[in-house]
Amino acid sequence: AIDINKLRDLTGAITMDPGYKNSGSCKSDITFLDGEEGILRYRGYAIEDLADKASFLEVSYLVIFGELPTRAQLEQFEADIRKYSLVNEEMKNIIDGFPKTAHPMGVLSSLTSALTAFNPKVVNVENESEMYEAIVKTMGKFLVLATWTFRKSSGYPLNYYDNTKGYVENFLRLMFELPTGPYTINPIVVDALDKLFILHADHEQNCSTSTVRMVGSSHAGLFASISAGVSALWGPLHGGANQAVLEMLEEIQKNGGDADKYLEKAKDKNDPFRLMGFGHRVYKNFDPRAKIIKKAADEVLATLGVNDPVLQIAKKLEESALVDEYFVSRKLYPNVDFYSGIIYRALGIPTDMFTVLFAIGRLPGWIAQWKEMRENKEPIGRPRQIYTGHPLRDFKPFEQR
Ligand code: ACO
Repeated sequence: AIDINKLRDLTGAITMDPGYKNSGSCKSDITFLDGEEGILRYRGYAIEDLADKASFLEVSYLVIFGELPTRAQLEQFEADIRKYSLVNEEMKNIIDGFPKTAHPMGVLSSLTSALTAFNPKVVNVENESEMYEAIVKTMGKFLVLATWTFRKSSGYPLNYYDNTKGYVENFLRLMFELPTGPYTINPIVVDALDKLFILHADHEQNCSTSTVRMVGSSHAGLFASISAGVSALWGPLHGGANQAVLEMLEEIQKNGGDADKYLEKAKDKNDPFRLMGFGHRVYKNFDPRAKIIKKAADEVLATLGVNDPVLQIAKKLEESALVDEYFVSRKLYPNVDFYSGIIYRALGIPTDMFTVLFAIGRLPGWIAQWKEMRENKEPIGRPRQIYTGHPLRDFKPFEQR
């Protein structure tokens, strides 16, 4: 008889690729990314065109369903998102259980997972119409819950989706409207947020998206998979970088505002400090999103007339790093998070909500990747390892340890 363990030793060559720097985990029709050339396209459309000409919901439809919507399709999509934007009132009991100081990403991840309890059908999507319903429910409810994490921490009453307003306008209303009067929506702010959300909508197999696919590959359901994506995005090496950028800039300001001193600190290999918002795993020349967003940041700051010393420090860091040998030789350029943090601050968004805004933008990408993974009937994700621990040992009773 064949000894299956011996056979495994002989045939079981494992490719070691920590951080999956060079491993493909799936085939995908959604996003094309060329890190060397700085190219990003959703479903074949250049990110520059989409950011300039389309709305966030239009791009969401494109990313999720594969084609730009007709006017009627977009109206239907928006109407369905509106219809499902209500969340069960009992979700408020869960929100009440969190301390006011809780980080909004932790709260958002928990609330998204909790949605499963109130919408059990979303777990087991069996046909196209159930898939569609799961998608519009997620788009509607996630936006509302994302803003509720802020309302909770600020002590304001929770707002509901306004059927007369668009998705991005609703985000602003849900965040900032008070019972004392209507919130005036600034079209420049809506335009900047629309662009930011579009630039974040998908980015192929990054940490959070791969997490969504991995969790979804066990057929765990859309809400559970998105909740895991939110947790993955939270970390400072991923989506949490936009919050980390602002915290770094504030620290530099608190300590005298000397940007160059921090530039030197980031170069010191004995110092764990890294310049937040610089460098990217894939883009080694420039981040095409950073180019678009830098322009938007300049416009927003000029239009809103913001004169903020923290933002001056950002400008100084950017200028110095772009001509510094260390950063230039390692191809470390400002990434999308560097500029998004700056815009969010200028718009008056609280720092610990920055990563939540990233999550709102990334939601259509997570949904599209989950949908594709399910439709392609991908197998459960299950990487291997190389065991480096002890060989077989004899068990020792307490007296011998
Ligand atoms: N500041 C200083 N040095 C840096 C930085 C930085 N921000 N980023 C990379 N380096 C250096 C490394 O020390 C290393 O130097 P060495 O070759 O002398 O050892 C070299 O550049 C290569 O860096 P790696 O860590 O190998 O690059 P990797 O591709 O693994 O990491 C990452 C990419 C995580 C984005 C990194 O650049 C970083 O930590 N940046 C700061 C955090 C950040 O902005 N994250 C947001 C990423 S974008 C996003 O999630 C949307």
